[in-house]
Amino acid sequence: MSPSEAVFAILCCQNGADPAVKAEVARDGWRLAYSRRGFLSFKNDSLGDKAVGRYDHQRLPHGVFVRTASWSLGLAKGEDAAMNVAQTVEIIERSGVKLPMDAVHIWPRDRVPVGKFDFEPGIDEVAIAVGELLVPSLKERGIITDERFNRIAKRGDRVLDIILVEPSIWAIGWHPVPRLTGNNANSALPTMWPGGVQPIQPPDEVISRAYFKAAEAIAWSGFEMRAGDRAIEIGASPGGACSLLLEMGLSVIGIDPAEMDEEVMEHKNFRHIRARAGDIPRSEYEGAKWLLVDSNVRPDQTLTTVEHIVTHRGSTIEGMILTLKLGGIAHADRIDGWVRKVKSWGATEIEVRQLARSKIEVCLVARMRGR
Ligand SMILES: C[S@@+](CC[C@H](N)C(=O)[O-])C[C@H]1O[C@@H](n2cnc3c(N)ncnc32)[C@H](O)[C@@H]1O
Repeated sequence: MSPSEAVFAILCCQNGADPAVKAEVARDGWRLAYSRRGFLSFKNDSLGDKAVGRYDHQRLPHGVFVRTASWSLGLAKGEDAAMNVAQTVEIIERSGVKLPMDAVHIWPRDRVPVGKFDFEPGIDEVAIAVGELLVPSLKERGIITDERFNRIAKRGDRVLDIILVEPSIWAIGWHPVPRLTGNNANSALPTMWPGGVQPIQPPDEVISRAYFKAAEAIAWSGFEMRAGDRAIEIGASPGGACSLLLEMGLSVIGIDPAEMDEEVMEHKNFRHIRARAGDIPRSEYEGAKWLLVDSNVRPDQTLTTVEHIVTHRGSTIEGMILTLKLGGIAHADRIDGWVRKVKSWGATEIEVRQLARSKIEVCLVARMRGR
C-alpha cells in the first residue's frame, strides 16, 4: 500500500458512547465511514509516511471511549455462516496483510448499553460458535497457527480481530499489541484482552459489579498494589471493590454512609467509616497509599474531596483511581478540564478511560509526584 492511500480503522466502544468516540478521533483526521451503535469504522487519508511504521499501534485511532481499535481488512456478509467463513478467508488473503497472525479474537459489538437488561460486554455464545466454525479454516490456510481463540495476547503479537457487528455481518481487522515498557506498560493491557474486556473469574460470587470495574482499573493503572498496603475507598458500599482489595491482601478502609456487606465487615483487614468523605478528618487518610473513589456524586464534588486529601501536607497517597460520573455522554467534553485540575495538584501519569464494564462514567488514574 502506498503512503498516500487511505486507510480504514474499525473501532468498538460502549453502546451509547459513539458520539464521544466520533468527536475524539476526528481530532486526528479520522472521518466516519460506517457505524452501528458500539461499532464504528473510520477513514484517514492524511496519515502520511512518518518515522513510525504505517500500521503501528500509535497510528490507530485512540481516545477515552475507544475500547478496541483495529486496522480494517473488510466486511464479510454472506447468506449463511459457511459463506461468511469463505469470505473472511478471501478478504484476509487478498488484503496482503503479513501472515500468520499470532492470535485471533472474536467478539460481538455491544448491542445495548452496559447494564441495560443486565447486559455485560464481552464474548457471548454466538462469538464462541463463530470461532468454532471459522478458526479451523483459518488454521488450514495458514492465517493462524494455533486453533485456540480469545486467549489473552502477548506484547508484540499481531492479533486478527473478528467483530460480529451482527451475527451474520463480520468486520475483519487486525491490531498489533504494543511492546510498551515502564510505568505505562499496563495501559496496553486492553489491547491484549479479547474485545478489550478483561477476562476475569472471581473466586466467589461478587458483592457488586464494582468488583469487575476495580479489577480492570487496577490492572490498567499499573499500580503496584501489594499485600499489606493500605487502601481507602470513598463510596465503598456494598463492597465489591473492597472485597477485591482484601483478596489482594491489602488493608482497607471503606468510607460510606451506607451499610457494607457483612462478609466485608467481618474481614480482619477491613474498617468501615460510616460517614460522608467530606465529613471526616484528614488524619483518617494518613498512612494510606492508594485512594479509590466510586461515590455517586458529581465529578466536581469528587475532585474537591480528593484535592483536600491528596494536597494535604501529611498525605501519603501515591496513586488514585477515581470514578467520574459523566451524567450523560454529551458531557464528555468536560474531561479535559478534570485532567487539568488533577494536574494542578502535582499529579503525574494521568490517564482516563471508559472501562469496559463502566456505565456512563470514566475512570481517571494518576500518581502523586515524588511519593
Ligand atoms: C456505586 S456505589 C459504590 C459501589 C462500591 N464501590 C462497591 O464496590 O460496591 C456509590 C456509593 O457512594 C456512596 N456515597 C455517595 N456520596 C458519598 C460521600 N460523600 N462519601 C462517601 N460515600 C458516598 C453511596 O452511599 C453509595 O454507596
